[in-house]
Amino acid sequence: MEQLTLTRPDDWHLHLRDGEALKAVLPHTVRQFARGIIMPNLKPPVRSLPDAAAYRDRILAAIPPGQTFEPLMTLYLTDNTRPEEILKAKDSGFVKAVKYYPSGATTNSEFGVTDIRKCDRIFETMQQVDLPLLLHGEVTDPDVDIFDREKVFIDRHLIPLKQRFPQLRVVLEHITTSDAVEYVLNADNIGATLTPQHLLFNRNRIFQGGINPHFYCLPILKRETHRQALLKAATSGNPKFFLGTDSAPHTRTSKESACGCAGCFSALHALELYAEAFESVNALDKLEAFASFYGPDFYQLPRNTEQITLTKTTWRIPDRVPFTESGLVPLRAGQEMTWKMA
Ligand code: NCD
Ligand code: ZN
Repeated sequence: MEQLTLTRPDDWHLHLRDGEALKAVLPHTVRQFARGIIMPNLKPPVRSLPDAAAYRDRILAAIPPGQTFEPLMTLYLTDNTRPEEILKAKDSGFVKAVKYYPSGATTNSEFGVTDIRKCDRIFETMQQVDLPLLLHGEVTDPDVDIFDREKVFIDRHLIPLKQRFPQLRVVLEHITTSDAVEYVLNADNIGATLTPQHLLFNRNRIFQGGINPHFYCLPILKRETHRQALLKAATSGNPKFFLGTDSAPHTRTSKESACGCAGCFSALHALELYAEAFESVNALDKLEAFASFYGPDFYQLPRNTEQITLTKTTWRIPDRVPFTESGLVPLRAGQEMTWKMA
């Protein structure tokens, strides 16, 4: 197959940052995706409806002229979020979900929730008005091994949460383990996003020939058996699993550092990376639904109607995307890709 035509996809988990960084990264996403679920982990985070409205305006203002993109906003859940904020967010029409970060789990998560059970009043309201909850599904307990943090979160927090709020619609974000796949397959009112890095690489990639900070993201890459389970889920045609890049830009110098930031930057070539992953298991016929149908279906939004085309051709991923003196390093920079979006 030399060409692949798909309904234009959406990105159901995206970090756009703010200010100059937003201007540098947004055009890449706009080229590939029609809509994106915008992560609220700014500094300070997007905690209220006015925060979300103002951030949405800044995103809209940064869209290159003549192009279209719809930012689907999220609120950042804290210990102090009030039920009224949830009602206002739901009424706004442009806030599509609420994001839970365990305090201390990842980039800008210091405002995150200290104990998930403290948020039951919020979950009650979200369940009532049917506003989805997006989970960074990792425990932060330093006694738990970093490779086990997702599984322990599911056992310790997610299973009890779904027992307390069975109708609450949940997305387990950027899943990384066969445990998460199993759980999502067997629970109700739950979906999961999958990133290109977790479909393409296992944890060896972080240490191949030396330490490779551009493959460090959270949740961290896992062993090969998990990658295979994720790829199987993504290509299974099950609508619970859909595309969410988790493109998370950090400058090169903040990645290549004694204490480097977590996050892979994939906005430039996300769709091509997914195509490669799907092709590796002869499942290109399953890519369109994963990338373009199951996300809007979960969020109860219309599917896009426009189409895009991928062509089989070899090209080299640039070493840097311009931003500050340091630049941004795309995922798998300098290496060859076999698909290219027109
Ligand atoms: C994200 C970031 O940099 O904002 N980093 C990452 O490794 N995925 C935060 C997140 O989604 O955990
Ligand atoms: Zn993320």
